[in-house]
Amino acid sequence: MEKRALGRSGLTVPVVGMGTWSTFDVKGKAAEANARAVVDRALEAGATFFDSSPMYGESERVLGLALEGQRDAAIVATKVWTPSVETGREQIRRALDYYGGRVELYQVHNLVNWREHLDTLEQLRDEGKVSAIGATHYQAPAFDELQAVMRTGRITAIQIPYNPIQRDVEERVLPLAADLNLGVVVMRPFAERGLLRRIPPDADLAPLAPFGVRTWPQALLKWILSDPRCHVAIPATSKPHRMTENAGAGGPPWFGAAEREYVSRLAQRRI
Ligand SMILES: NC(=O)c1ccc[n+]([C@@H]2O[C@H](COP(=O)([O-])OP(=O)(O)OC[C@H]3O[C@@H](n4cnc5c(N)ncnc54)[C@H](OP(=O)(O)O)[C@@H]3O)[C@@H](O)[C@H]2O)c1
Repeated sequence: MEKRALGRSGLTVPVVGMGTWSTFDVKGKAAEANARAVVDRALEAGATFFDSSPMYGESERVLGLALEGQRDAAIVATKVWTPSVETGREQIRRALDYYGGRVELYQVHNLVNWREHLDTLEQLRDEGKVSAIGATHYQAPAFDELQAVMRTGRITAIQIPYNPIQRDVEERVLPLAADLNLGVVVMRPFAERGLLRRIPPDADLAPLAPFGVRTWPQALLKWILSDPRCHVAIPATSKPHRMTENAGAGGPPWFGAAEREYVSRLAQRRI
């Protein structure tokens, strides 16, 4: 698995990590054991970056359980998501409890009340409980505000959606992130399954075999990660074996412009 510096955040991350939205929002022994199996496979494959949020129901708690006894092997990214400063502090207290008293990347989710949450997070960073601070948004209309936050100098990473059918960030967000040397975490690599509804036939994937691509999800992940401005993609899965498959896209050779264009064309035909 290739590792990249997450911009100037001070963190080094594997290029493939894992999200937990909906897939880890589960309760009960069997579902929690399954989440543990997903995390075990991720760690085995070197996909050691895990993203969560208090917005994702049980996910932060279930990720914490799944990391029991192996927390040191993980890079945890989570979020604060509330208009209230006090509720934000409670969310952070809970998360620090789940993750052994520290979180590597703390993000302001959807830019909600970002100014005040950044005050809290900066204090925690000064205390050594948070390594780096970021901000996220998933919708293009919010990207102007996201760029304003990026320019404040108060964050060192962003999390944005990017895949062959959601390319809004190419216009201004990715160029600005590169200019400012910010880390870029890529959410929704499969467009929330939208890109997985119709899988291209093997014959269409054959030209990508020299790049180590065996499956369509791997082609999509490699499409993202072949842009060096992107540092880690975080596909979510509830199936342990898919974590191994996804991690398989995390190394060179990377696509050139022609292969990226080819995958884009395949993706347009799949939606
Ligand atoms: N900050 C924000 O605003 C924000 C917004 C959205 C998402 N996110 C983060 O980004 C993460 C990823 O985004 P996402 O969960 O929306 O969507 P996604 O990763 O694009 O797609 C996830 C879906 O893909 C399926 N999948 C994963 N690997 C697969 C494979 N190899 N083969 C076939 N199917 C596969 C999973 O189903 P199975 O479970 O059946 O494998 C899952 O339902 C989230 O979990 C979350 O951590 C952040």
